[in-house]
Amino acid sequence: MDKYAVIGHPIGHSKSPRIHALFAEQTGQDMAYEAVLAPLDGFADTVCRLVGEGYRGFNVTVPFKGEAFELADALTDRARRAGAVNTLKVQADGALLGENTDGVGLVTDLVNNLGVAIAGRDLVVLGAGGAVRGVLAPLLALGPASLHIANRTGARAEQLAQDFADLGPVTGGDLDSLKGRQAHVLINGTSAGLDDEVPALPDDLLHVDGGCYDMMYGDRPTAFLRWAAAHDAAWTADGLGMLVEQAAESFALWRGVRPQTGPVIRTLRPVQP
Ligand SMILES: NC(=O)c1ccc[n+]([C@@H]2O[C@H](COP(=O)([O-])OP(=O)(O)OC[C@H]3O[C@@H](n4cnc5c(N)ncnc54)[C@H](OP(=O)(O)O)[C@@H]3O)[C@@H](O)[C@H]2O)c1
Repeated sequence: MDKYAVIGHPIGHSKSPRIHALFAEQTGQDMAYEAVLAPLDGFADTVCRLVGEGYRGFNVTVPFKGEAFELADALTDRARRAGAVNTLKVQADGALLGENTDGVGLVTDLVNNLGVAIAGRDLVVLGAGGAVRGVLAPLLALGPASLHIANRTGARAEQLAQDFADLGPVTGGDLDSLKGRQAHVLINGTSAGLDDEVPALPDDLLHVDGGCYDMMYGDRPTAFLRWAAAHDAAWTADGLGMLVEQAAESFALWRGVRPQTGPVIRTLRPVQP
């Protein structure tokens, strides 16, 4: 039986083993998938050990996506653009292929599952960390009228905008740069929600038919989605769909078959009281 794992620190909270077990059952793939805690200074050693034990691929999560990028022997274009790797595939010759499926996961959830239009719309993305870097190329590929990145540390957003300027109309700035803007699609890619916080946002940031997507997810509405509801967002979604979609892309890379994601998202979605 082929073995796979998600590697992170911490890792106990990960939903990935459940997601991949559901994919394997649905597609009839004979495989095992587990969560592995790597020491903070031992990511590469952990991967080497598991490859030696015959593992065929890995998902990589916080804080190792940058190290996975460095460790990969070859990179897909998406991973190179993202500067981070969340999926490793062990090739037939033992070499590691690095891929990044986070961005395509977000876009698939937004466009296919939620039916959100991106072409010709004004997008605002909050945050300038690894997750945001990963989603910029797939979002710009859909032809928005504008994509503005706003971050607590404005210089990081400006740098990101420069790095992706060849792909479309992207700008960056600090949170004050949001004044006077209106978003059709407002995406939260900050980790402020981990402390149940929302970056300071202007009250009129949402266009009258604008909606909000939080890359974070939880059993209760996140702080950002509570902000969205209080500001009359036309629609809201959390990042559970993105998580399942990025997992499906990894699964397809490893197994050559793409699972259906809708039933898995519905299974994992907590029942609202
Ligand atoms: N659903 C999924 O599949 C999925 C996949 C990947 C990531 N995510 C989520 O995306 C989020 C970001 O992840 P990441 O890997 O990009 O993290 P990261 O690289 O650590 O970046 C964190 C970002 O959040 C900003 N930030 C942190 N605390 C803030 C606060 N209190 N107020 C305003 N801004 C704040 C940081 O701003 P500074 O630059 O100023 O520090 C930075 O831009 C996390 O919540 C993660 O769970 C979800």
